Amino acid sequence: MNKTRFGIFGCGVIAKTHAAVIKRIEDAELYACADISEKAALSFAENHSIKAFSSLDEMLESPDVDVISVCTPSGTHADIAIKILEADKNVILEKPMAIKTSDCDRIIEVAKKSKGKLTVISQMRTAPDIKKLKSLIDTGTLGKVLLVELNMNYYRDDEYYKGSWRGSKKMDGGGALMNQGIHGVDLIGYLVGKVAKVTSIVRTVAHDIEVEDMAVANLEFENGALGIITASTAVPPGFDRETKIYGTCGYAHLIETKLVRLIINGKEMPCEKFVSSGAATSNQFLDSSGHKRQIEDFIDVINGEELEYIDENEGKVPVELIERIYSSSI
Ligand SMILES: NC(=O)c1ccc[n+]([C@@H]2O[C@H](COP(=O)([O-])OP(=O)(O)OC[C@H]3O[C@@H](n4cnc5c(N)ncnc54)[C@H](O)[C@@H]3O)[C@@H](O)[C@H]2O)c1
Repeated sequence: MNKTRFGIFGCGVIAKTHAAVIKRIEDAELYACADISEKAALSFAENHSIKAFSSLDEMLESPDVDVISVCTPSGTHADIAIKILEADKNVILEKPMAIKTSDCDRIIEVAKKSKGKLTVISQMRTAPDIKKLKSLIDTGTLGKVLLVELNMNYYRDDEYYKGSWRGSKKMDGGGALMNQGIHGVDLIGYLVGKVAKVTSIVRTVAHDIEVEDMAVANLEFENGALGIITASTAVPPGFDRETKIYGTCGYAHLIETKLVRLIINGKEMPCEKFVSSGAATSNQFLDSSGHKRQIEDFIDVINGEELEYIDENEGKVPVELIERIYSSSI
C-alpha cells in the first residue's frame, strides 16, 4: 500500500509533535510544511529534511500531499480547514476545532460536500485507560453516573502569553477553558454525555490577557448527573488534571488520562502509577502517544476503514459547551 503523505501547516510548538509522530508511523510519510512565516517553514523543513511550500495554496495544489496537519493558532483553524476541505484534501485539525460554535458549523457544512475527511485532535480520548473507563460507563458497570468533578488547575507564567496569540480573544478565543481545558471538557462529554444546564463564573485574575485564567462551572447532564469544572492557568506551580466520576456501582479517579483509582461494587481494582508529563506547568508538550494513536486511526479512516473517529461533529461538542460556560458567567 502507498504511504499516506503529510503536509504540516503552521510550524510552531505542536507541529514538532506532529512531525515526530508522523515519522514514527510506518504507513505515513512526512512530505512538506508551510507557515505564514517563511523563516519558520524553511527552518522546519531543514530540520526534518522535507519540502517547504511558500503557502497553503501551493501545498493544496500539490498532488503529493494527502493530509494536512493544521498546527496554526486556534483563531485561524476554521478558515484554513474550510480551504483544505474545499480542495478535497484530508485535514488533521489541532484543537480547538474553532473558537466559535458558528465556525464549527461552517466547517461541518463544507465537510458534507468534500471528498476530504477531517479529524479534530483530542488525543486524550485515545488513551487506554480512557477507553476502558468509557466501556465501564457504557456497559453500566459503574452504574448510573451521579457526579463528575473535573479540576484543571494549570499554571502558565507571563512569558507564555507575552507577545503571543495566546491569551487573545481573536486568536485563542478563550484561555484556561478554550486552550488548556478543552481536553477535559471533551472527555467528560465523551464519557458522561450531553450537558443540559450550565452556570458559571469566569474571570481573569492573574495575567494581563483578554481571556479567562480562572473559571468554575456547574453542570447538569441530560442523564441527570451533576458536574463541577474548575479551570485555571493562574495557580502555581500547576496541578495535573483530575477527573472523578461517581456512579451508583463504582468510582473512577483519573489523573490526566491515567486511572489511579477504580472501585467497582465496593472492590478496589488494580491501577498503575501515574507519571506526570508536565503539561500542567508548561506548554512544551512531552507525551506524543495520543497524537500517534489518533493519527494512525485517521490514516485507516482515510483508507476506507469504518472506524469510530473524532470527526467534525465530535470536535464541535466541547467548543459549544465552553461557549455556553462563557455566556452563562455571572
Ligand atoms: N493537542 C494539544 O495538546 C495541543 C498542544 C499545543 C497546542 N495545540 C494547538 O495547536 C495550535 C498551535 O499551537 P502552538 O503552540 O504550536 O502555536 P505556535 O505559536 O508555537 O505555532 C504556530 C505556528 O503557526 C504559524 N502561524 C501563525 N499564524 C498563521 C497563519 N495565519 N497561517 C499559517 N501559519 C500561521 C506561526 O508562524 C507558528 O509557526 C493551537 O491551536 C493550539 O491550541 C494543541
